[in-house]
Amino acid sequence: MCGIVGYIGTQAATEILLSGLEKLEYRGYDSAGIATILSDELNCVRAKGKLHNLRSKIEQSENPAPIGIGHTRWATHGKPEERNAHPHMDMAMRIAVVQNGIVENYRELREQLKTQGHEFVSETDTEVIPHLIAQFLKEEVALADDNSDVIFFEAVRKAVNELQGAFAIAVICADYPDELIAVRQQAPLVIGFGQGEFFCASDTPAIIAHTRAVLPLDNGEMARLTPLGVEVYNFAGLRQRKHVRMLSLSPTMVEKQGFKHFMLKEIYEQPGVVRACLDAYFSSEGDGADSLINLGLSESVYADLEQIQIVACGTSWHAALIGKYLLEQLAGVPTQVQYASEFRYAPAPLIPNTLTIGVTQSGETADTLAALSMEKERRQGLEPKYQVRLLGITNRPESSLGHMVPHIINTLAGIEIGVAATKTFTAQLMAFYALALDLAERRKILPQENLAEIIAGLRHIPKEIESTLETQEKLTEHLAHEFAETQDFIFLGRGINFPIALEGALKLKEISYIHAEGYPAGEMKHGPIALLDAKVPVVAIATPGSVYEKVISNAQEAKARDSRLIGVTPVNHGEAADVFNDMIPVTEVDELLSPLLTVVPMQLLAYHIAARRGLDVDQPRNLAKSVTVE
Ligand code: G6P
Repeated sequence: MCGIVGYIGTQAATEILLSGLEKLEYRGYDSAGIATILSDELNCVRAKGKLHNLRSKIEQSENPAPIGIGHTRWATHGKPEERNAHPHMDMAMRIAVVQNGIVENYRELREQLKTQGHEFVSETDTEVIPHLIAQFLKEEVALADDNSDVIFFEAVRKAVNELQGAFAIAVICADYPDELIAVRQQAPLVIGFGQGEFFCASDTPAIIAHTRAVLPLDNGEMARLTPLGVEVYNFAGLRQRKHVRMLSLSPTMVEKQGFKHFMLKEIYEQPGVVRACLDAYFSSEGDGADSLINLGLSESVYADLEQIQIVACGTSWHAALIGKYLLEQLAGVPTQVQYASEFRYAPAPLIPNTLTIGVTQSGETADTLAALSMEKERRQGLEPKYQVRLLGITNRPESSLGHMVPHIINTLAGIEIGVAATKTFTAQLMAFYALALDLAERRKILPQENLAEIIAGLRHIPKEIESTLETQEKLTEHLAHEFAETQDFIFLGRGINFPIALEGALKLKEISYIHAEGYPAGEMKHGPIALLDAKVPVVAIATPGSVYEKVISNAQEAKARDSRLIGVTPVNHGEAADVFNDMIPVTEVDELLSPLLTVVPMQLLAYHIAARRGLDVDQPRNLAKSVTVE
């Protein structure tokens, strides 16, 4: 949801900014722009659409400017047009600002600035920021003595104190060409340290090619970057002591490595991701009496638990639905799953001894963070059993979520670039298996041998994914050829595979723009069956277990309405071969573990249909990977 990047140093900033923005394009790609300062002049170039449009505009000119800021936009206020593209400037075109987030009180500020003679050219909330800074700068210049070197910083600080909302900002000014100011208020921003050069960015992939030494800003902090170093202050202007840390990410992790798209590469990375989670969450086999699970969560998370509530969005919400199944069936804890965006405005009544879990791969989704902080607030000051207990499940422990909650399960999927989540979903499922088993063990609900059996089953999953991946890929590619022009799809699943049907439909919608619905198979007859005819294919997930026969019957009902039936199923099991027109094989495993296998063909089917339609798989229209506005 908008990506920002900044550079100050000795090299030419333009290419560093453009290649940084390339790595942030997953955050939005409605428009892009950069501003640099050379010989005390501000040079701002912006272009509608993807980054390559900006690149082709810029490539004609040499620009050795050693300072600059850049932006890639996911439109919130104002259409995706060039005049709404960042950076935004003040009237004198001396100050340039890029922002990720929303300035909630921009209307009031705009009106107030208009009365002071300011004129605006865009529809954005961001444009008030350079105007406000210009206003404060005038005052600072009038007050300051000639030796003051904090005039620009003070003007930005005063302006920031007027802003309400959640935002990350980078600012430069042609009158102060040796300063870049970076500000964080509830939107991610990290500072990077190189040799005589410094960076800021919404996310680390933007700077990893230059440095692994980083300092994530906290909310309410702002950094002053000069060629000599970085100083961090709070919004009151007090200097903050911070520690630089080293990233484990490597630049090759953010390359396609021979795959046509990041999404396909990330689908293929899933066996490795499951292995990484197994190694981290479970002890090696034969551990005897000791715990088999190493989540490292303290007893205070689990004590006297009466219920669990989970808040999440999108694909993470689907992972949470599987989490609910596991937590209830394995650990016997009543569990609710809420859309984070709904929970905040209609929370369930307070129940004592509740564990609230936020699931977000990015750790930055504004709805999820807001739901968690609302939960924290409403439980503040209540008697001990009502006090808040928060746990986060995230792929980015260094994220805002990581700062907000005391306990984290790190999903260890490695950086995911494709906007449609794949390997991070699988990793979230692994986190839920570990959590449910940990709870089951601590509550003495599951006999040790059952626990060991499930863990042994999990250990086979990477091999099972690997052994079917190639076959599934060929089959889904073939099906994609046939279904590339289809307008509607139905996905059916039951029990633990119902959320996989939802995920299959979501993947297809997100990247192929084909209308798709996921249903619990038994619900078809209560309405959606009216949609079926020969033009509407049905993908049914039928895995052996408690609901296999039921799903097969529901599939037959669809077949009787002329729908083409695609089964995601073990091919040699039961009646599958007689029922389905096409089959995508999955290995037969314990029903409880089957989602880890059934989700893969869903991802591949969506991928190949979108690729066949010639669509931008990794950056589907209107979407952003990390949605940092509510
Ligand atoms: C966006 C993405 C989805 C993602 C959702 C939640 O809408 O496009 O793919 O599932 O955010 O993201 P999170 O980072 O919270 O898991």
